[in-house]
Amino acid sequence: MTQLQQDSLSPFMAECRDRCDKAMASHLDSLTVMPETLVSAMRYSALLGGKRLRPCLVYASALATGQTIEYGDDAAAAIELLHCYSLIHDDLPAMDNDDLRRGQPTLHVAYDEATAILAGDAMQALAFQILSESSRYSESVRLRMLQCLTRAGGCHGMVAGQAIDLASVGQPIKLPALENMHRLKTGALIMASVELGALSAACVDESILSHLRGFAGCIGLAFQVQDDILDVTGDTATLGKQQGADQALNKPTYVSLLGLDEAKLKASRLIEDAHGHLDQIDGDTRYLAALADYITGRLY
Ligand code: IPE
Ligand code: IPE
Ligand code: MG
Ligand code: MG
Ligand code: MG
Repeated sequence: MTQLQQDSLSPFMAECRDRCDKAMASHLDSLTVMPETLVSAMRYSALLGGKRLRPCLVYASALATGQTIEYGDDAAAAIELLHCYSLIHDDLPAMDNDDLRRGQPTLHVAYDEATAILAGDAMQALAFQILSESSRYSESVRLRMLQCLTRAGGCHGMVAGQAIDLASVGQPIKLPALENMHRLKTGALIMASVELGALSAACVDESILSHLRGFAGCIGLAFQVQDDILDVTGDTATLGKQQGADQALNKPTYVSLLGLDEAKLKASRLIEDAHGHLDQIDGDTRYLAALADYITGRLY
């Protein structure tokens, strides 16, 4: 990363976090008719921490396709709510059975399992509601955004990846199958983040969209490779989640299949490829470029 990019990324990420948090909080504040405990559980999961990488990608992609930043707000809130729901369910006893997330007790520990399941369900539905009712986007853009998020979040994307993840525990999985799992369970929402940003700019240029998708595919896989690496090299306090959780559950990961050095090499090659896609886009891709580098440099 160049010095210019390093200097500008932190304030950019802080601005994105702030914008997305305000957007999520205002949508959650408007849920007056729902049971208080459910809303409080949703707020706990959505508003207490997190890097907000997916919102940052929405905003950066909107800027790269010529839009102004505020057009990313509803898309950023929607993707982050969907992501937070995926974390709540990922941590449940029936899935990864984790009790620490973002430095806090996981939702089923802080509340109870039934509340965690329902809060996750409600956050997913709220994500779709936000897009379908947004006054920022035209009707046709809203429909495309909904197609994008529903495909990425469900059995063509994240949920499929999570199902493969659970079915692969202790199995002698091969590299192409592991890559497919990572692209689905994590890559799909990262791809959707970049696509939603471009849609917020009503970008229909297929050449730009195809390079953005190529970029997103690379960083999405790299993001989960780095997550696998950090499970081995990180520490619980910095990660805000239990270090060594993958090994304890006998999960197949890039590190368990390739070893640490090869996994690191894989991640950095993917980021190089991601930059190659950005080079083909005629727009302000500085923040997308800096976020790509951030993915492999991060410690949590
Ligand atoms: C964690 O995602 C789950 C994965 C997909 C690996 P993040 O590392 O983006 O978690 P937060 O949002 O910053 O807590
Ligand atoms: C989670 O992968 C992916 C989703 C939440 C969809 P992990 O299970 O590796 O995520 P962490 O490590 O618990 O954050
Ligand atoms: Mg998991
Ligand atoms: Mg997990
Ligand atoms: Mg992990």
